[in-house]
Amino acid sequence: MYINEWYVMAQSEELTDRPLQVKALGQKFALFRDSNGNAHCLANVCVHRGGSLSSGKIKGDCLQCPYHGLQYDGDGICRFIPTLPEGAKIPERAKVDAYPVDERYGLIFAFLGDLPEAERTPILEAPEWGQDGWRTFNLLYHWHANLEVVTENSLDATHAEFAHTATSQEGQFRLGDRASIEMLDYDWGNSYVIRSGSLDLTQGHHGISQTFGYMNFEMKTADGTEPGDFRFYAYATPVDEYSVRRYLLHARNFYLGEENDKQLLKGVWQFEKEDRVLLEDTRPLLAPNPDTRQLLLTEDQIIAQYRDFVSQRQQAGWRIDTERVNATREQTVYAIPSPARRESTGWITEEIPRIRPSA
Ligand code: FES
Ligand SMILES: [Fe+2]
Repeated sequence: MYINEWYVMAQSEELTDRPLQVKALGQKFALFRDSNGNAHCLANVCVHRGGSLSSGKIKGDCLQCPYHGLQYDGDGICRFIPTLPEGAKIPERAKVDAYPVDERYGLIFAFLGDLPEAERTPILEAPEWGQDGWRTFNLLYHWHANLEVVTENSLDATHAEFAHTATSQEGQFRLGDRASIEMLDYDWGNSYVIRSGSLDLTQGHHGISQTFGYMNFEMKTADGTEPGDFRFYAYATPVDEYSVRRYLLHARNFYLGEENDKQLLKGVWQFEKEDRVLLEDTRPLLAPNPDTRQLLLTEDQIIAQYRDFVSQRQQAGWRIDTERVNATREQTVYAIPSPARRESTGWITEEIPRIRPSA
């Protein structure tokens, strides 16, 4: 698992007027809305004596710890200590990590890491969201599979013939006579297009955890054929090493009527089940390192590129050292470092250990 990505913490509608506990990167976070309705994301453990902030109460623009009532604002700064004498200064060390939040597409994203804004990979944009001529909806999948394994599946076109038999034809992706692949330039990751008959399928990854797919095809209609565009934007959040929440935004410019949703959704959930069953049973459980013994074929170039991309993130020192975290988790509270750690000192909670880049 890697820090320094935008991860979806919750769907907008899940965060009401109460705090919400969310797990990501193996850690707990406290989400809450201030008096203006703006969402905030804090590390869950109170620096006083370890209370769970997400079990506390919202007080104005602050989140109050359920144990002794310290109140933290959306920047993670403690603004009130109930037992402090009138006029006494709040210690500067009374602060928890607070993460940048961006709410859009009906999703609450948090940047879990310490990179300054200019260096962050932006959130994958879904320009069709809410646009005329497009119909969009959000789905949430819970899969017991590693994030990288899930991302690789999302980049993979050729499994459709075997895993999703209702929607593909035999031999559809036979390279040479039936299909061709072209790798494309993409600023925030890697992408490619696979062409087969009237189907053009572009897929790619954006950062480590976000993927997209554009599909153009000819639809059969009563009086001939019509072009159709189907697009997806997938935002995956590692709950821990072995499970993900996958937020999938679908967009289509055909069958726009609401009455078509039911039929399409049936197909989408069938797809979900087919991938889930497949991924929960593939091995190894953790993402293969680039040197793991697997036979990559021509169509797997995107998988090789993705693995290289991930290993660059490891070289940057962003990979969480899960073994160390697990070995010490009963005695130590860890925080994913927030951007404020680069600006100030005096942090009580220990930064989560990361794998040191190799020389
Ligand atoms: S543990 Fe949070 S106020 Fe004491
Ligand atoms: Fe699939």
